[in-house]
Amino acid sequence: MFEQIKLDYGFDALEPYIDTETMQTHYGKHHAAYTANLNKLADQAGKTDESIEDILAELVEIKDIELRTGLRNNGGGFYNHNLYFKEITPGGSNLPSGILAAKIDEAFGSFDSMKEKLTALSIGQFGSGWAWLSKTSDGSLFASKTDNQDNPISLKTGHTPIMCIDVWEHAYYLKYKNLRASYVEALWNVINWDIVAELYKA
Ligand SMILES: [Fe+2]
Repeated sequence: MFEQIKLDYGFDALEPYIDTETMQTHYGKHHAAYTANLNKLADQAGKTDESIEDILAELVEIKDIELRTGLRNNGGGFYNHNLYFKEITPGGSNLPSGILAAKIDEAFGSFDSMKEKLTALSIGQFGSGWAWLSKTSDGSLFASKTDNQDNPISLKTGHTPIMCIDVWEHAYYLKYKNLRASYVEALWNVINWDIVAELYKA
């Protein structure tokens, strides 16, 4: 049984960067629906005992195209939002330090350049999707974007996501309307770099 990550903060705790109504809808409706659908489809596919990472990495094994697409979208929606809601926290956290800071500098030149790169990917994504900061197999960092609920795992890039930016309109439209850039700029204030660092080291 796949379960949504439990939030250790209230729906109103990310104000003013992410508004209460968006959090209620995003976590309580959208993420809840992806999770319920994933559980139904994983059952149909006989995959309730597998990890979500394994399901997403092995989509090609599912011969029924409708079932495969359903697991790609809802399994991705489940996984992606679990990471998103885990990595945001009221007030954010200190800037990256130690190994994560070093890897950010190595890949992007500086923390600010990394933010600029991910912001540009987020704003440049046409339609719904995500921007990603991932760890590659040699431990370096890589920035990318994906369509819909795809992610570096379902696309079999070999990279492990450690931070993501949801750029579906449901993530920002209630407060920011069409101003995706304003939402992305605000989101940086609530990123928990301690959690991103933990995911890097995992
Ligand atoms: Fe979302």
